[in-house]
Amino acid sequence: MSDPLLDLSALVRGETGNDLPEGRLPFLREAAERRARAAGCADLAAYVAALGAGELRGEWELLASLLTIKESSFFRVPQQWERIRSEVLPELARARAATRRLRFWSAACAAGEEPGTLALLVADLPTLAGWDWSVVATDLDPDALAQAERGLYGERAVAAVPPALRATWFAARGRLYELDPRLRARIAYRRLNLARPPWRLPEERFDLILLRNVLIYFRAELQRAVVAEAARRLAPDGWLFLGGSETLWRLQDELVAVDLGDCFAYRHPRPGEVLPEPARRASAPPGPPRPVPAPREVETPPAPPAPTPVEHLLAAIAHLEADRAGDAERAAAAALEADPADPAAHALVGLLHDLGGRTQEAVESLRAALYLEPDLVQVRWLLAGCLRRLGEASHAERHFREVVATLERGGGRRLALLDGRLLPDPAETLRRARAALAAQGRA
Ligand SMILES: C[S@@+](CC[C@H](N)C(=O)[O-])C[C@H]1O[C@@H](n2cnc3c(N)ncnc32)[C@H](O)[C@@H]1O
Repeated sequence: MSDPLLDLSALVRGETGNDLPEGRLPFLREAAERRARAAGCADLAAYVAALGAGELRGEWELLASLLTIKESSFFRVPQQWERIRSEVLPELARARAATRRLRFWSAACAAGEEPGTLALLVADLPTLAGWDWSVVATDLDPDALAQAERGLYGERAVAAVPPALRATWFAARGRLYELDPRLRARIAYRRLNLARPPWRLPEERFDLILLRNVLIYFRAELQRAVVAEAARRLAPDGWLFLGGSETLWRLQDELVAVDLGDCFAYRHPRPGEVLPEPARRASAPPGPPRPVPAPREVETPPAPPAPTPVEHLLAAIAHLEADRAGDAERAAAAALEADPADPAAHALVGLLHDLGGRTQEAVESLRAALYLEPDLVQVRWLLAGCLRRLGEASHAERHFREVVATLERGGGRRLALLDGRLLPDPAETLRRARAALAAQGRA
């Protein structure tokens, strides 16, 4: 007999693309049992059967809304926005000077923080004043879209908005902030399921596509299909941005990675430009396209096999322990590229961001690790510390408490590779989490 929970997980994957890691199955059960009761089904098995047979109208929207992660904020991964402001938009402005028309797409827009950020940057750029520009903002979750249309955000969502932009484009509404309706009028919010083509989008190709922090939830096959379709929707000189710790490596050969200094973006190769050799990309983070070397006269020996993901991770750890931060970051990035679904790689990248003082980026990577494996107590402890340093005291406290509760009941998974070396062992993690909570109580 099949397990209704596993059947449901497969249904969710088929319908929404979201591949729930094993660690999230207890949460899936809880959410589904709640929905089963609300839908009047006798038990979980009856609910799953009815859902699979399409007998529960509107149920997918409700369930998907419960299961998807809507974590977002204005100016999330600020270095990407800085590059969009200072390089991408000016370049597009030069390229579109004749038509003065720009089209943008935010492909998993959550409650509108991402298209809102783009809109306020575009509106704030003097060179684009008077231009015809608009943003299509799409998401799977109708609740998130309704929230985006209301345009009201809490302090945490707008915390990273530069003060001058906040003063110009937000109005205080009690304890919330309203995004200027003139910006919202430029944004068309629509429901679109990336896992279910064909996508209903305008025919015109986009000058900039934001596909950030959604591919991580999909399996490689769907990631490939989504990226291929997004590439078709991208103007020949348009730009594609992924989330700060995501990469297209191994997913496609159509777009090239462009190194923007502190982040990467993707675009179609320019005429005459060649893609980097896959073998070289395997051992290095995505870089600007390199020319293919001229054929050699002498026969070259076959290239050694590319390092495995674990070898990259071990190399990163060895570099870090030897105080070679730059080499460690390169190896960790390669580990992540080699296996983007490896929580240890995300955790290590997070740790490196943290050590490098990039706390916001550390939070992103550590959250990605915990999404893939929620039981990693040491990673949660690290995340709690980062959040506390970012001034997010209540979120930090919640994670510290979860660390303590998990370890006190003897649960949690340790990250064997980092355990006791770069991260405290579980006993020490417990001691430090308790101390952090005591200190927070005294503050
Ligand atoms: C973590 S948020 C990312 C928000 C924003 N792009 C950012 O980076 O801040 C992920 C979003 O992907 C959406 N999502 C998940 N599966 C989707 C699908 N199959 N089609 C469209 N959106 C989806 C979720 O509803 C959620 O709003």
